[in-house]
Amino acid sequence: MKPTHQPVLLAETLCLLKPTAGESYFDGTAGYGGHAAAVIKRIGEGGRVVLVDRDRQATITLQRRFGRRAEIIRANYLEAASRLAEDGSLFDIVLLDLGVSSPQLDTPERGFSFNLKAPLDMRMDQAQVLSAAEVVNGYTRERLADVIRRYGEEPRAHKIAEAIVTHRPVETTAQLANIVRRVAGSRGHIDAATRTFQAIRIEVNAELDSLERALPQLLRLLPPGGRLAVISFHSLEDRIVKNFIAREAKDCLCPPKQPICTCGHRASLVKLTPQAVKGEDFDSHNPRARSAKLRAAAKINQKQKEVTT
Ligand SMILES: C[S@@+](CC[C@H](N)C(=O)[O-])C[C@H]1O[C@@H](n2cnc3c(N)ncnc32)[C@H](O)[C@@H]1O
Repeated sequence: MKPTHQPVLLAETLCLLKPTAGESYFDGTAGYGGHAAAVIKRIGEGGRVVLVDRDRQATITLQRRFGRRAEIIRANYLEAASRLAEDGSLFDIVLLDLGVSSPQLDTPERGFSFNLKAPLDMRMDQAQVLSAAEVVNGYTRERLADVIRRYGEEPRAHKIAEAIVTHRPVETTAQLANIVRRVAGSRGHIDAATRTFQAIRIEVNAELDSLERALPQLLRLLPPGGRLAVISFHSLEDRIVKNFIAREAKDCLCPPKQPICTCGHRASLVKLTPQAVKGEDFDSHNPRARSAKLRAAAKINQKQKEVTT
């Protein structure tokens, strides 16, 4: 199968990560290998390459494309990064490109798209138990409303949750989309079901939790001078990445009015992107890139207190 996912902000990611011959590379969301192919081309045959994805179909494709050059791991990047950090593995380049891939969205039976009629699924990892059907039909109205409000930033979350509960059992993506559209009304060019589908997908895959818990593990994977880049597609994801980098780029985390530092925190990262690099500015020809934000940082060499890149 030909890979059908167009990598987002590819040139900008390469410019920040600066892969060089012989370096090592960990990709926690390798998908169909769009970013991986470009990074591997630059690092050549030398360094260790680990490509991770939790999606079975993606890892089959990765194995076929890169099986001879890379270690392919089917896992949550949180688990993979924790295991590798425990082993003391180090990678010069660490990349997360979050969200869903085009093949996930475009395969009707995966249930990610509100434009295609399919069973309610939305699991990135097909072996996982929790699916969209359980969230939509099993959560209480309050819990469902909370998911839709928090992860979808949907102002009509309560009304949508109420309508879903009234129409249970909801069996297909088309059914769910129509229920939501009737309540949420249209908003310009954006389908009214967009926010609710996004919210349910984030809940099913525990996306924010994985990111929040993985970032400290990814930091452990970086040697001095190593570079980390994260591409996110949701404001809550971007906030997690932004706050993590800001915190790790600071020497002291004591309250600003405290005269003497008592926390002992020392900066371990230096920001490579003072502002997020936005897909709408740099990759506007790629429709998937519209909401993308790229942030990157490099690990400080604690002894020299300078970046060795
Ligand atoms: C936007 S796509 C990556 C595309 C890839 N960079 C490329 O150019 O082909 C996101 C991928 O991350 C995977 N993914 C999302 N969350 C994950 C997680 N917690 N652990 C592992 N893989 C994850 C999805 O299954 C999907 O294949």
